[in-house]
Amino acid sequence: MAAAANDQTALLRFSQDFAAPIGIDCEPVASRRALRAPHLESGANTAYYCVRTADRSIVLIGFMGTGKSSVGRRLASVTGWPRFDTDQMIATALGMSITKIFARLGEEEFREQESRALDKLDSKQLSIIVTGGGVVLRPRNVARLHELGTVFCLTANLPTLEKRLGRRSHRPLLQTENRAETIQALLRERQPLYEQAADITIDTTSLTHDQVAQSIQDSLALA
Ligand code: S3P
Repeated sequence: MAAAANDQTALLRFSQDFAAPIGIDCEPVASRRALRAPHLESGANTAYYCVRTADRSIVLIGFMGTGKSSVGRRLASVTGWPRFDTDQMIATALGMSITKIFARLGEEEFREQESRALDKLDSKQLSIIVTGGGVVLRPRNVARLHELGTVFCLTANLPTLEKRLGRRSHRPLLQTENRAETIQALLRERQPLYEQAADITIDTTSLTHDQVAQSIQDSLALA
């Protein structure tokens, strides 16, 4: 059982009636998630459960302004796990800020570097992995994120995102005449990708960074 729980998918196939008496904390997983593990059988009488343990890294995805970086810092401090921020990894690797990378090398090169940063991470090291808002644009990135850990998607409603992103203007994709329109267009394109990629989604609209971090810990029984 322990070996199965350490399977990279963290999915097990057994009934809750069996799991609870022997102290395994588990919860049903939507069939969509089970479908992402095609090597596991599926059948009419098969139920998949995601074992809630702290034995997987925490991966944060979500649109710009949803608080990934701040929540990631808090999670690193409470868990003691190292934090890897793909934007920081890329900036360090190329010796340039993200703004300069977009301006000098273009978005496509940035996306290539983003995939390379994910490849460099060690799936066996428990860590907090913070990604940039566009990481879901490449399907291979999404597959890699699932190898790395449990994928939490942070969201916020549109007015909140506009407010949060209005305060800062350093993000290259938001250097447009009409920032609100750009945010809406990007969200329209990405919303389905975030939904598909997420194991767990947390709406941060009315939560503080500490509350979001707490909610992630609770859902992984890390509290
Ligand atoms: C991007 C988001 C940024 C950064 C880059 C591209 C995006 O990260 O990776 O500017 O495509 O949404 P944050 O989500 O941390 O702002």
